Amino acid sequence: MCGIIGYIGPKQVTTLLVEGLRRLEYRGYDSAGVAVITNPSSPSSTRELQIVRCRGKLSELEGQLAGAAPQGNVGIGHTRWATHGRPSDENAHPHRFESVAVVHNGIIENYLSLKRSLSERGHSFSSETDTEIIAHLIWEELQRVAPGPDRLLTATQRALKHLEGAYAVVVLCTDTPDEVVCAKSASPLVLGLGDGENLIASDVPALLPHTRRVIFLEEGDLAQLTREKVRVIGLDGVERKRPERVITWSLLAAEKAGYKHFMLKEIFEQPRAVTDTLRGRLSHAPADALLDGYDIDPSKVKRLFVLACGTSFHASLVGKYLIEALARIPVEVDLASEFRYRDPIVSSGDLVVAVSQSGETADTLAAIREAQKKGAQIFSIANVVDSSIPRTSQHSLYTHAGPEIGVASTKAFTTQLVALALLALHLGRRSGRLSEEAAQAFVHDLTSLPAKLTQVLQTAEQLQQLARTYGHCRDMLYLGRGPQFPIALEGALKLKEISYIHAEGYAAGEMKHGPIALIDEGLPVLVLAPHDGGYEKVLSNLSEVKARGGHVIAITTEGDHSLRTLADHVIEVPAVHPLLAPIITVVPLQLFAYYVADFKGTDVDQPRNLAKSVTVE
Ligand code: M6R
Repeated sequence: MCGIIGYIGPKQVTTLLVEGLRRLEYRGYDSAGVAVITNPSSPSSTRELQIVRCRGKLSELEGQLAGAAPQGNVGIGHTRWATHGRPSDENAHPHRFESVAVVHNGIIENYLSLKRSLSERGHSFSSETDTEIIAHLIWEELQRVAPGPDRLLTATQRALKHLEGAYAVVVLCTDTPDEVVCAKSASPLVLGLGDGENLIASDVPALLPHTRRVIFLEEGDLAQLTREKVRVIGLDGVERKRPERVITWSLLAAEKAGYKHFMLKEIFEQPRAVTDTLRGRLSHAPADALLDGYDIDPSKVKRLFVLACGTSFHASLVGKYLIEALARIPVEVDLASEFRYRDPIVSSGDLVVAVSQSGETADTLAAIREAQKKGAQIFSIANVVDSSIPRTSQHSLYTHAGPEIGVASTKAFTTQLVALALLALHLGRRSGRLSEEAAQAFVHDLTSLPAKLTQVLQTAEQLQQLARTYGHCRDMLYLGRGPQFPIALEGALKLKEISYIHAEGYAAGEMKHGPIALIDEGLPVLVLAPHDGGYEKVLSNLSEVKARGGHVIAITTEGDHSLRTLADHVIEVPAVHPLLAPIITVVPLQLFAYYVADFKGTDVDQPRNLAKSVTVE
């Protein structure tokens, strides 16, 4: 999730670009850069494309620009959140080939094959990014388009037809200095309409100092910006009419896309985040998961450990159910903070999977270092590219959820579950324990997740109501069985973290061994009861709660009839493979925790005593 800005008009562009990038920094910042056409009105031989870019925060770029800012009125800028290629000066955007410079947000799935064929045509590359090939492709097309007012637009349109994946791309070219071209597929872009100037950005906050008149680009749109006008066409070249809107949000509300808190925004981003985790990693015939070039031979894996902390630990517990069911390989899941201190029995031939959103959690890092010292191979699942945990690992699978700003982890969790499902599928196929038919069904359900997540988000209003009813309670209990047990733990953790209400997550079958004593009149009990192998048993547990006066909020599969008479409130979620159901059932719990905290008026995004990244023991 990178930040993009582009400008054409009368103003000095470099300062404007940097200010715009500052307002997009919340989208991620491991490197930043600008490209400016200097002397745009002079003959082409004296026009220059000046690029300044570097690794690090925007302040690093500002340092480089101090006293040496390119002078011009047409330019593009970018803050990067790495996907392909580690954060470095070379991988920072803009990327350039000859007269063409591009900035890009998204993932080009077929970039390796495109890079290969460009190399065969004599191109060479200076970065590890998927973005650089876009500049090469546009330049090639540009050589085939006759000079004229739409040359860059036509070349970009033709080049984009080669790309598969997600992109928001903005293009600048010294041969056509009076236009900026951009295009959108799956990643956001919004045009800002000014007077004698026009802008493009990946989000509204960057535009607000200049204009409140905007056009949100839609899938497959390309736009040409000149000083006087903007024009939108489709990939087929046909003009598209897009409505102009006037933004009335404050700057802060705009950063949160109009949501009250980052946490709520991130909960609602989950369909997009899961799409990005799956992107380019599923094959349909034969059904299989591709782990970014990493191939695991299960017959060479002596033992498999999964290590993590907090929410990532809960994801790891679901991972155990996934891997054991699909690949029939025993999995030991451990809290990283416990593992590192107990002289763990681990040795060469063992595979340790580390799961971490930040990639910087001190306990997880120390645990994998300990395992590595003893000879284990480390495979990490992380969100922040090139953070310490992936850097310490032999292989990494990035979740591509985009920066998570709310301290309470939401989209990082669901995307970790998707990554673990991909790992389980991969191991199941390689071990031969998952048949083609079963794998097909699993892949089908994996691809259905974004739409189902969109559907489950429609329960938000119902959960807001429930939060008002139960937000005053002192304690709550969460119950689940099988792969829903870790979801009970996660639901309770979410509530504790942001609303400061005491909550316990329990395996429903354990209730009779102790926690049943807690149940009295009015205790809210959230029960995870999707239609899976544990459903009937969960119904009995739920009846035990009811018999003691507890208030039951049940989360179940849509169309369920039994629970309507048993539970006080029923939240229906779409049906999905039981091992993928945690990705769906956790969403109502995230929403419930959010609305309770909001009802109580706590600091949702920065709850007391917590940090986003726990880099100390
Ligand atoms: O960055 P990590 O996933 O390694 O972080 C682990 C925990 O600190 C983290 O999940 C924490 O529990 C969150 N605040 C949960 O919402």
